[in-house]
Amino acid sequence: MNLEDTIYKRQSIRSYEETPLDSETLDEVREFIDNAKELNPDIKWSYEILPTENISTMMRWKAPHYIAIFSEEKDNYYQNVGFIFQQVDLFLQSKGIGTCWIGMGSPKNYENPDGNQKFIIIISLGLPKGNLYREINQFRRKKLEQISDKTDERLVPAQFAPSASNTQPWYFTHNEDGSYDLYREKGWLLKNKIYGKWNQIDVGIALAHLYVANSDTFKFYIKDNPKKLKGHLYQGSFEI
Ligand SMILES: Cc1cc2nc3c(=O)[nH]c(=O)nc-3n(C[C@H](O)[C@H](O)[C@H](O)COP(=O)(O)O)c2cc1C
Repeated sequence: MNLEDTIYKRQSIRSYEETPLDSETLDEVREFIDNAKELNPDIKWSYEILPTENISTMMRWKAPHYIAIFSEEKDNYYQNVGFIFQQVDLFLQSKGIGTCWIGMGSPKNYENPDGNQKFIIIISLGLPKGNLYREINQFRRKKLEQISDKTDERLVPAQFAPSASNTQPWYFTHNEDGSYDLYREKGWLLKNKIYGKWNQIDVGIALAHLYVANSDTFKFYIKDNPKKLKGHLYQGSFEI
């Protein structure tokens, strides 16, 4: 399956076979990651595929591998990580490998060689126990008109994006020239404290779906003086 079709089939996998993936497959994953598109190419980031022993999570389940992601703390670095690694999530799921973004976890007994990069998030991966894919009517997502100022079918790939606790914090507005502005729901104070970091990753994830569905035309940029939107934070603008 290609990456675009995977958007409408994928789901977070929380039950894995213990058998590790073979080293050829892991090399293919590394090659895909190394060639994924970045949202902001000025930000240094890195990753390591770690075994279960090197991970501590609050989850009751385990996967044979985890991608631990690190980044410089610069500009839109959370969005950049979401953008890059959602392409990886789609790639893995398109190949029959289960994945789950995990906010509630971190590496243990592992130090990133670049001391200037901080740990951002982990993603579990491995062969799924049970079905990898789901049917389109099994997605729980907001309606198109809840995530945009106009009902616009071109935003469907973003509508289907995964997000921390399925918060779907994105909101899109349309500009006269056909471009879009993207905002993130601020939410109430405590919610923003808990989800603020993850919701920035979510925004990058939604942008990755729009990129994958429009890879020839997708352009992302940040305006100096964006329009303000009550209860929301400006995250960037794009063309698709
Ligand atoms: C940034 C981020 C953090 C997440 N953290 C966790 C987590 O700690 N544990 C978990 O089980 N799922 C986690 N998820 C998975 C979401 O709960 C899941 O993507 C969402 O409920 C939508 O479901 P779906 O991915 O099956 O479509 C996370 C997802 C994202 C994007």
